[in-house]
Order: sequence, then structure tokens, then C-alpha cells
Amino acid sequence: MEYQNILVETRGAVGWIQLNRPEAMNALSMALVSEVGQAIEAFQADDEVGAMVITGNEKAFAAGADIKDMEGQDFIDLFLADFPYNRRDGWDSLNTARKPIIAAVSGFALGGGCEMAMACDFILAADTARFGQPEINIGTIPGAGGTQRLTRAVGKAKAMEMCLTGRMMDAEEAERAGLVSRILPAEELEAEALKVAGKIAKMSRPAVYMAKEAVNVAFESSLQEGLRFERRAFASTFATEDQKEGMNAFVEKRKPDFKHR
Ligand code: CAA
Repeated sequence: MEYQNILVETRGAVGWIQLNRPEAMNALSMALVSEVGQAIEAFQADDEVGAMVITGNEKAFAAGADIKDMEGQDFIDLFLADFPYNRRDGWDSLNTARKPIIAAVSGFALGGGCEMAMACDFILAADTARFGQPEINIGTIPGAGGTQRLTRAVGKAKAMEMCLTGRMMDAEEAERAGLVSRILPAEELEAEALKVAGKIAKMSRPAVYMAKEAVNVAFESSLQEGLRFERRAFASTFATEDQKEGMNAFVEKRKPDFKHR
């Protein structure tokens, strides 16, 4: 597959996707988003790949939807196209991938860029990372999950302030607020993202899928429903060969060799 807006490669068992429109701060044109969707689908279908990373460059993860593309559009254009980033555009591949996707963020993650990072399973941030929903500065509001995912991640006070003023959060604040899992020196981000994704890829794939699904259920159900889901998923891992291997390996004081079965 030839991509024009992203760089895609397999690094060991990790599917690596780099947003690559440096001239536009990796603004998320429809073509770019569609390519990200295609790359995710290809990695999801590739048995050799166990986890994915989406990253940008040192200046920007992505500075949002492409404002130059949107500028001339009116309500009816957006409404009929179900813009931004609907199922047909590839964005759903990000939401529905079963393999974990890590966002490795350096520099700006703004607007749709922050939304794309938040749609990943977790965010590793460089110390240079800056997160924001600055749509209010250009007379609009977040449209790809910003008001919803940011609020769930950092709570109402910070999300409201950021959406109403366009204020950006630096990496330290983002970590304190729970938006990112960890901060790394910028020069170590890529290696660490690869290491973490590689570690996940070696785990039992059925267990990884179940863990991801169970954590996500926490966002969409009551505590009782979530606990019930988790209990059933936990029991079902005991139907896998990998659970036998994992527990045998522990008892025999050796490393497990998961077959993803
Ligand atoms: N869309 C299109 N082009 C963009 C862009 C965007 N979102 N962000 C940056 N660019 C382009 C700039 O126009 C500029 O291009 P030219 O060289 O051709 O002029 C180039 O990238 C470099 O940008 P700057 O010169 O502005 O770089 P800077 O270092 O001075 O500032 C920045 C960096 C703070 C990220 C600034 O570019 C910026 O504020 N960008 C827009 C951020 C924004 O408003 N994002 C929200 C978009 S709307 C959205 O995302 C809706 C949604 O929810 C889906």
C-alpha cells in the first residue's frame, strides 16, 4: 500500500504509523485520516503485529483538522458528509481496533490532534508535548470527541476551561491531570513507545484484547455492569492456552511463551 500522508512500517511485532505532513504541522486532512484508518486495518489483519503506535514529529503530533480544507465549508456540507471523521473516513478504525494503539506525542497535539491521541488507548508524552482544544479561537468547537474524551480524562473543570479558552496544557499538567500515562525526555519517546508496544505485543493476545475491552467498558457502563463484565472476561481467559502457559511458567520460574491462543 502506498501512503502519501503517513509513514508506515512494521518494527518487530509493532505496527508503526507516523503522521507525515510536516509542512502543515501534521494537520489531519481527510486523506491523512483515511490513510491512518487503512494502516490500522492492515495492522489489525496482520497476525505478526500485536500492538500499534501512532506518532508525529518532534514539533507536532498533529495541530488539528486541516483548517484550510474546512474554511470554505458550510453547515449543510458538514452535516451531509457527517464531518469530521466518520465511519467512512477511517476514524472508526481507530475507535474499533482490537489491538492496542499507543499515541506517542511530541510537540503540539491540538484540536483533532488531541482528539486522535485521546482516541488511542493511552498517550506517552514527550516533555515537549502540548495538548489543547483551541477550536474556540477559530469560532468553532471540538468535533471529533474533544468535549467528551477530554472531560472523561481530566474532569470538568480543566476540560471546560480548555474548551472555552483554548488554553494548552503542557506535559507536566497533562500527566498530573491523568491525560497521559507518562512523560519522557523527547529524545527517548520513540524508543520507549516501541519498547512498550513491543512488550504488549508479546503478551497473550486474547488477554490483551479482553483487558482493553474491559477497561473501555468502564467508560460506558455502571460500576456493577463493568464489574460483571470484568468477572466474565477474567473467567474466560481460563479457556485459553496462554493462561495455562502463563501460570505454569510462573510456577516453573521461567518466562512464558504465549502462542496467542
Ligand atoms: N490546519 C491547516 N494548516 C495548519 C494547521 C491546521 N490545523 N496548523 C498549522 N498549520 C500550518 C500553518 O498554516 C503553517 O502553514 P504555512 O507555512 O503554509 O503558513 C504551518 O502549518 C506552520 O504553522 P505555523 O506557522 O502556525 O507554526 P507556529 O509554530 O507559529 O504555530 C500552532 C503552531 C500553534 C500549532 C499553530 O499552527 C496553530 O495554532 N494551528 C492551528 C491549531 C488549531 O486551531 N487546531 C484546531 C483545528 S480545528 C479542529 O481540529 C476541529 C476538530 O475538532 C476536528
